[in-house]
Amino acid sequence: MTSSLALGDPKLDSDHDELNRLIEALAAAPPESVVAALRALQKHATEHFSMEDVDLRDMKDGNASCHIDEHAAVSKSLEEVCVHVAPDPASARAQDMLIRLVAELRRWLPVHVLEMDAGVASSRTKKRLGGAPIVLNLKGSASRG
Ligand SMILES: [Fe+2]
Ligand SMILES: [Fe+2]
Repeated sequence: MTSSLALGDPKLDSDHDELNRLIEALAAAPPESVVAALRALQKHATEHFSMEDVDLRDMKDGNASCHIDEHAAVSKSLEEVCVHVAPDPASARAQDMLIRLVAELRRWLPVHVLEMDAGVASSRTKKRLGGAPIVLNLKGSASRG
């Protein structure tokens, strides 16, 4: 993950890196590889969301159900695009859907990580170490997650 999105939780950060990589792989995929790229992204997102959802159900945070709902909405969108694109990935309609999906995911991921997943990182670290994670931003000042 770009350092600006690092939350200080190794598992979350590596998962978000992989999400980012898979979104860019989808953006670069030729029509014959698009369905495989979409399925790979969908599989990773599903596993990652499931893991976060376990933590979210343990949290007393009022945003937890909103966060779980957002995971479900993204999963649903990925499945819908898959279903529509799979029969003819090279069609103009499929290519248009993919362009819009990639644009939306590129916009969504950083916002989701910084506004929603930061709370999960904090909770995971508190559980593991008894304190909130600290992310060192070498260009600016240290921030607490
Ligand atoms: Fe996440
Ligand atoms: Fe999340």
